[in-house]
Amino acid sequence: MKALFLVATILAAVAGQVRAQVGAQEPKLNPNNIDQVVEAMTLQEKARLLVGRNDPVFGGYAETEEPFTRIIPTNVAGYTQAIPRLGIPATALADGPVGLVIVSYPESPRQYTATGFPSGTLMACSWDVTLNRRVGEAMGNEALEHGVDVILAPGMNIHRSPLGGRNYEYYSEDPLLTGKMAAALVRGVQSNGVGTSLKHFAANSQETNRTGVDEIVSQRALREIYLKGFEIAVKESHPWTVMSSYNRLNGPYTQENRELLTTVLRDEWGFDGIVMTDWIQIRNTAAQIQAGNDLMEPGYQVQIDDIVARVRSGELSVEDVDVCVRRVLEYIVKTPHFRGHSFSHTHDQEGHARLAREAATQGMVLLKNDGGALPLGGEVKRVALFGRSSYDFLAGGTGSGNVVKPYVVNLAQGLSNAGLEPSQEMEEVYEKYIEYVGLRNRFEGVSLGRSTIPEMTVARGAIERQAAENDVAILTIGRQAGEGGDRTIKEGYNLTAGERELMEDVCDAFHAAGKRVVVVLNVGGAVETSSWKGLPDAILMAWQPGQQGGNAVADILTGAVNPSGKLSMTLSVSAMDHPSSANFPLGPAAPRRGNQPRENVDYTLHREGIWVGYRYFNTAGKEVSYPFGHGLSYTDFSYSRPTVRATGDGFRATVTVTNTGKVAGRESVQLYVSAPAGELDKPLRELRAFAKTGLLQPGQSEVLTFEVADYDLASFDERISAWVAPRGRYTVGFGASVEDIHATGAYTLGREFILKVNDVLRPTMELK
Ligand code: BGC
Repeated sequence: MKALFLVATILAAVAGQVRAQVGAQEPKLNPNNIDQVVEAMTLQEKARLLVGRNDPVFGGYAETEEPFTRIIPTNVAGYTQAIPRLGIPATALADGPVGLVIVSYPESPRQYTATGFPSGTLMACSWDVTLNRRVGEAMGNEALEHGVDVILAPGMNIHRSPLGGRNYEYYSEDPLLTGKMAAALVRGVQSNGVGTSLKHFAANSQETNRTGVDEIVSQRALREIYLKGFEIAVKESHPWTVMSSYNRLNGPYTQENRELLTTVLRDEWGFDGIVMTDWIQIRNTAAQIQAGNDLMEPGYQVQIDDIVARVRSGELSVEDVDVCVRRVLEYIVKTPHFRGHSFSHTHDQEGHARLAREAATQGMVLLKNDGGALPLGGEVKRVALFGRSSYDFLAGGTGSGNVVKPYVVNLAQGLSNAGLEPSQEMEEVYEKYIEYVGLRNRFEGVSLGRSTIPEMTVARGAIERQAAENDVAILTIGRQAGEGGDRTIKEGYNLTAGERELMEDVCDAFHAAGKRVVVVLNVGGAVETSSWKGLPDAILMAWQPGQQGGNAVADILTGAVNPSGKLSMTLSVSAMDHPSSANFPLGPAAPRRGNQPRENVDYTLHREGIWVGYRYFNTAGKEVSYPFGHGLSYTDFSYSRPTVRATGDGFRATVTVTNTGKVAGRESVQLYVSAPAGELDKPLRELRAFAKTGLLQPGQSEVLTFEVADYDLASFDERISAWVAPRGRYTVGFGASVEDIHATGAYTLGREFILKVNDVLRPTMELK
């Protein structure tokens, strides 16, 4: 028997050798033979699969060997490498959060563009998960039809500071709103059979020295504020990929942090996709693989060589490499490239543009509307349109999220399309000015950085003449920002002296002539409003609303659409009121002296802990300009007495919202919970759920339902590494903003809720 077994073994070994020599029976990848393919791969091939295919000319991908002859005729951010012998195709990864970013080859016969959707911030201000899902569906369809396998979105870092350069890509200062919006986008995109990448994981809270800064964050703030949104999105929407961030977090780079990428992301939350790096040169390849960072992008040959060398030296085990390889293959078999999808290179341009316009109207926030200044009635025809951005509208921010759009509808065009008559004379003067300063905003390419474009001076006499000739003044204030730089208080957050002067002169002249002034904020992130909000009659926060921006603003100003957006962040009186401002780079990084690390540049202490945004302002009773959740409508709503019923592991609440005004409109209701006193200091109120009505006609009602689990009420107790919700009575408030609670109920938690988790990600420095 023994002898027989020996013979069989020898025969099998010989057969194996022969197979390997002739390569006759190489497996071709399919979803059921991943282990076999891993076994058949050489170490070189495994290393190649974990490293992207960076193309030095930023070029598309072509493979000559069948069935890999399909060319991706567009430039995207990154690719995974093909291994044709094993049936492994290349896949394509493209930015970004506000639309698909593809750049055509200069010589390609057709130039491809994608739809420029509204910024992430605007989308969050819609408080509308269904809308976010629909936008995701459209973006995913564009990805699918243009040969892209993964969209590098959603961007979901927290607006820790109003000065964050990339805030336009991100949703909110609140993690629940962030997580729900991201989950909706992921579900929409992935319904097309293409993937998403939650980014940037995690605590990528500043752009200044983003690839070097060590963000030092308490375990509590991490769990409750910076990780929570990712946790919600991972659990609710199963993203295919997650992108680790550039920064260090409590010591190691996030991409080399096993506690973050494996203990928390995979073991605690159940993430089963791949983690890829943000686009960076070589770092410690072994540490990344051991941490659970499966893919290095954009990918360099030195990384491949390094992985091979480290395996050969015994520093890295093949088993660890195989874990990542297996996961990358599991990703690849899901992709359109693997499925052999043949791309049409077309999408429904008009339908998606209509959706972009609709979405934009849903997230614009009417901050102020004195005396019913808006909507503009039928008697208003002639418009004096001030501000350079009115003619050079900012559809989105800069950097990798800058979609190559077919066009941008500026405000002058939008108003004309709506039948209004913007002053020709002003348009000509502003157009000349924009040409003269040579700083037209680019929407056709990826550009890094930010720009403060000076406002044109308009003579007092000219303004008075405009006031005599027109029915209304609209003044647009524009702000550009994006990847690679944070904003400054002086030029980014506050009005410039020129803008202030223009606003004062316009308000004086138009008010003297008995006419209204409307300010439109065409900005990527929060700006100062407190010092000047008394001047105009109405203020519309239009954000950076995508390629249909001008039409969408006109929809709101004319009342074709009733505004229903609400702030996803606090508009503070001063930028310095945010506790984070004491621990944030407030200007360009100073040069480094010797080895001395620079605070807020080489390391940033999140001394404010969980006291980010409204959690601080509302609890401290600190005056704000406009609170989190604020937004006006052209109609009014009443809230009924709510119901709050225990479900066994949480509660279900309902409230009936009735439109008591004269025009149709939508209301988003925010459910805030105030916890009973316990061991931990808690914010006065925390957003625990939200819901938005459909379009309610005057007199019409809708019952909104909210589900909250006990786990959602818990705070993180670092002393015992556990989520804890103390027993007792929780006040449940139904608000139109965090400061405007219309109805309250109560929920009693009979016994303490407690969920132990791993004691990981400890800060390496004292945070006091
Ligand atoms: C950005 C990412 C982006 C990547 C690829 C990086 O610089 O931080 O958000 O997805 O580039 O373009």
